[in-house]
Amino acid sequence: MGQLMRLESREQIAAGVWAIVVRRDDPTAPVAAGQFLNVLCGTRVTSMVLRRPLSIADVSDDGRLITLIFRVVGAGTTVLSELPVGAEIDCAGPLGHGFDLTTAGHRALLFGGGVGVPPMYLLGRRLVERGVQVQFRLGFRDAADVFWTDRFAHLGEVLVSTDDGSVGTRGTVADLQGTDQARQFPPDAVYACGPIPMLRHVQQSFAADLPTQLSLEERMACGVGACYACVIPDAEHTDHQWRICYDGPVLDAGKVIL
Ligand code: FES
Repeated sequence: MGQLMRLESREQIAAGVWAIVVRRDDPTAPVAAGQFLNVLCGTRVTSMVLRRPLSIADVSDDGRLITLIFRVVGAGTTVLSELPVGAEIDCAGPLGHGFDLTTAGHRALLFGGGVGVPPMYLLGRRLVERGVQVQFRLGFRDAADVFWTDRFAHLGEVLVSTDDGSVGTRGTVADLQGTDQARQFPPDAVYACGPIPMLRHVQQSFAADLPTQLSLEERMACGVGACYACVIPDAEHTDHQWRICYDGPVLDAGKVIL
């Protein structure tokens, strides 16, 4: 169900974190910020059984080159990180619903945590192209975990937190709220991608007053809405659950129970 994409480059950008660029021959399907590719980890001969959903960090202007960033967490992502340049990778997508840019207003606040950081780059690019001023608040474990902050800085102001304080403010992105830069940036809209505690902070801090969208990181299996391995409760209808891969991964913060 995927199309074969050629591995153009791979680079380790932080401890256990890799950026790969894949080329697709058919760029007609548009790429929205917040979408993902569901990647068969390996060649078709050596591949693992399950696909891995990898968030899209960037796309070239002609739509052919897609940058994916992932953390090596098991056998599948290890295989993926070791594939040689030129290998053909079976990728399904772009999949899922991405971020809605129309509610961004004049100033948008973008939160990213860990491997939730990459989609914030493409989102930031798209918002800046629309004339929106952006501030990024990015959370990492420690200095070895930090990546791409220089690239983000070309788009807007970057505030960084690390658990151990080795870069930026000590603590989580929630601890950035008290900084002068945060106080001087009252946003019109908020976007976030990262671990659940971070999303909870964003939901509780902003969703009542501002358009707030969350990209939910969940383990997926089929990636196309068929298996219900990725569900999360609907805040408005207790008998309904959202499928993150199909209804999301981006959902309005007011619509989910975290
Ligand atoms: Fe199968 Fe979402 S991963 S329904």
